[in-house]
Amino acid sequence: MISQTTIESILNAASIEEVIGEYVTLKKRGANLVACCPFHNEKTPSFTVSPSKGIFKCFGCGKAGNVIRFIMEHEHLSYVEALKFLGNKYNIPVEDREETPEEAQSRMRRDSMLVVNEYAQKFYSQYLLEEQRGKDIGLSYLTERGFTESIIRQFGLGFAPSEKDTFTQTAMAAGYKQELLIATGLTIHYPAAAGRAEGWADRFRDRVMFPIHSLSGRVIGFGGRSLQSSKQTAKYVNSPDSEVYDKSRSLYGLYFAKQHISRQQACYLVEGYTDVLSLYQAGIMNVVSSSGTSLTEEQIRLIKRFARQVVVLYDGDDAGIKASIRSIDMILAEGLQVKVVRFPQGEDPDSYARTHSSQEILHFLENNQVDFIHFKISLMAEEMKDPIKRSSLIREVINTIAIIPDVITRTVYIEECSRHLDIEELILTREVSRIRKRNYSKQVQRAKATPAKAAEQDAEAAFQRKPSEGLQGKSEVSRCERELLYYLLKFGQSPLHEETTVAEYIIGALEEDELEFQDPLLLHMFREYIQLSGDDLTRRRHFMNHSNLEMAQYALDLLNKPHHINLKVLKDSLPIEESLLKENVTKAVLVYKLRVVSHTCNKLTGELRRAQMQGEESNMKEIMQKLTVMMEVRNSFAKELNRLS
Ligand code: CTP
Ligand code: MN
Repeated sequence: MISQTTIESILNAASIEEVIGEYVTLKKRGANLVACCPFHNEKTPSFTVSPSKGIFKCFGCGKAGNVIRFIMEHEHLSYVEALKFLGNKYNIPVEDREETPEEAQSRMRRDSMLVVNEYAQKFYSQYLLEEQRGKDIGLSYLTERGFTESIIRQFGLGFAPSEKDTFTQTAMAAGYKQELLIATGLTIHYPAAAGRAEGWADRFRDRVMFPIHSLSGRVIGFGGRSLQSSKQTAKYVNSPDSEVYDKSRSLYGLYFAKQHISRQQACYLVEGYTDVLSLYQAGIMNVVSSSGTSLTEEQIRLIKRFARQVVVLYDGDDAGIKASIRSIDMILAEGLQVKVVRFPQGEDPDSYARTHSSQEILHFLENNQVDFIHFKISLMAEEMKDPIKRSSLIREVINTIAIIPDVITRTVYIEECSRHLDIEELILTREVSRIRKRNYSKQVQRAKATPAKAAEQDAEAAFQRKPSEGLQGKSEVSRCERELLYYLLKFGQSPLHEETTVAEYIIGALEEDELEFQDPLLLHMFREYIQLSGDDLTRRRHFMNHSNLEMAQYALDLLNKPHHINLKVLKDSLPIEESLLKENVTKAVLVYKLRVVSHTCNKLTGELRRAQMQGEESNMKEIMQKLTVMMEVRNSFAKELNRLS
């Protein structure tokens, strides 16, 4: 049996559109994606994928299910095999075994905690809507702020009584275990101390309660807002992290917003609970906030599962600007597009939404969205006149561009930046690439220092792997990757020329163009290789005896069957001369780069054709621009390769 936790991690990692997108070409239609059904013959698409629900359904043949079901049907695998297939794809270890008693216990414990939270949510909600004190204080406050009963019910808002332990007592009388009340953070336990017996109290007292939902709609925690304005009382008290609640991995409102985010392909990011509620109530439903923490990478990745664009809304004050600058860089680093909307001084999304009609809000959001470059430039428009400040602004913008993972997007921004700041593109390009190199080596160093973190990054890299467009191109790329790995394992520590080893050469060459292996297994091995020390034999042994069996098998195959390698000379001339090695490795690197770029070009050509067919003028222009850049790069590689052979 495969543990529920593993199944959940697989379902979390395997985005359905990505998996299915490798089998059929999905086209957007509203919030969903459609394609011609892979399970029966059809000319017009009736096969539908819903990313927000995580399911597919064919209205022609009736096949339907989640991502696991799709793989079972398509690959003719059993349930367990399909899980292993996906686990392998997303680097999630799948052990086919009984759930241990401890695992079963912790699963049941989490379930019980969710049940306790649900009870608490109902309790607070009932107190708000039905008890006199709740109505007088909580409900009237919310109503005065303009929240309708329907939004209050939908988001499950509530009010906590003001006495010391009304909730705890009521919950215990209803049969909920004290231990679970403490585990969820609803009840605080005070251990006995000098001169004091142990005691219990409600964490949330006299507060408006905002339940926080998981992606699937379960209540995992609460935020409680005090209505007192005294300095002694914290404005918000939040549930502590627990087995069911991880602040850094949840977003307030996401459960309600996800389908709208997916439909609009954009997500509004605001600061607080009330901003989410006000915008949602005004009909702008693709909105979330990172309540209780500053924005985290995990939260951005959550958004990324539903949309490629984040619009950061922030107050006009200095603190708001600071927070938004930090968020922008983080969002860009995850490969998402960022727009920024700044509210007038003294306004926030909540106050704005309360005083304007839905139409006005939408207009405001649409007319005031600016790109991060314009945002940064406008922020410092005044300072631009001062040459010293101007240069630090330029640096700032360049640093931000350097964070963007995708080379084509970077190119587009460099153009933009060159135009606005009136600096030559070439200078910017050089500068960005210098910074990227520096960041990259820092990253490698960090990875060396903390291997566990590196493994995490590997899993992440696999997670982010884009669906392959055109199997042909992709398998060519992975053949090249295989070959490079072969040189690493076989000759990595041999000199290529006086001062460089084969490994240094290959690693440097990939860094130079910011390339990373696309095949997750090979990427994993490549990164691990970088961290190893010792001679070739030691390193080979490391992989051949690896605890990851797939990796061990791969290393064995690779080293035992060099005839899979492209370059023929090697096969019967082992050990080979250094000069031959040099030629082979240099070529292998170039061929690899050429393949990667060609693959990108093919993809772009396909996109261009599609845009042309659908008459999307502006889109076509953008694709053309990218394509021209990539073709130039491709041709330069091809020329160099020609020169060598
Ligand atoms: N926050 C928090 N703890 C605090 C203050 C704020 O966790 N002591 C978080 C809450 O998630 C809050 C968000 O930061 O929603 C934004 O804070 P703020 O703007 O002060 O609160 P709002 O929810 O906007 O409340 P209001 O509009 O009622 O002032
Ligand atoms: Mn507010």
